[in-house]
Amino acid sequence: VSERKKMIIGNWKMFKNSAQASADFSELADLIVAKNLNLEVGIAAPSVFLAELARKTQNSVTLFAQNAHWANEGAFTGEVSPAMLKSIRVNGSLVAHSERRQMFAESNETAGKRVGALIRAGMKAVLCIGETLTERENGDLKKVLKTQLEVALNASGISSANEFIGSDPSSPLLSIAYEPVWAIGTGKAASPVEAQEAHAFIREVLASYFNPETSSRLQILYGGSVKLNNVSDYMACPDVDGALVGGASLVAKDFAELCEKC
Ligand code: G3P
Repeated sequence: VSERKKMIIGNWKMFKNSAQASADFSELADLIVAKNLNLEVGIAAPSVFLAELARKTQNSVTLFAQNAHWANEGAFTGEVSPAMLKSIRVNGSLVAHSERRQMFAESNETAGKRVGALIRAGMKAVLCIGETLTERENGDLKKVLKTQLEVALNASGISSANEFIGSDPSSPLLSIAYEPVWAIGTGKAASPVEAQEAHAFIREVLASYFNPETSSRLQILYGGSVKLNNVSDYMACPDVDGALVGGASLVAKDFAELCEKC
């Protein structure tokens, strides 16, 4: 089994104003430098703040957008492209967060096109997948996860597994975030056992889609009500390589403490 580096990403969603974003990000970057942790810490910030934040990362915080288009430029009012993000030194983007799937008509196909464009730009893509409560209760967990993964990977238009890894195998370009919809912002987190089961299955699907070696290198993050008091339980699971954290990432000091627990 390859050594996978842990990665914790804070998703700020549509919170904070410019002054708060700058101050919080600087504080977080300072704390992460000071703590000298052996893990990758990222923030997915609203796009209006990214250029400013890119100047403050001190190379200690990986900077993500929350969405990115699949074209480099064009008549796509309201969208931001991977090339634009790259030009301001953003490292990657979340793709197909469940809030985008539910409220902004994101499909597995469009998710895949976004992943493909990011990877081709040499940027990180965090593909978010996860089932609704009804799907889980109907026994469709595996079917849903498999479809979300396979349709998106096919739609990416990239066939070489190595391209998804990129030039630094310790920090692959593609990662997957498993976020059960029923656990997001609800305080009702999946149990570590449920998370591990889903992650092991995701790794199995990746192994048959790519190959076992590639699958063992890709980071799979858990998201959904991750807090200071439960994060270590997830990190103890063999197939959980990090977390995508919403609410508990908004206060720099608390988020840095959460990262330290990993
Ligand atoms: O992307 C992270 C997220 O959707 C989970 O949010 O607030 O439940 O940690 P939260």
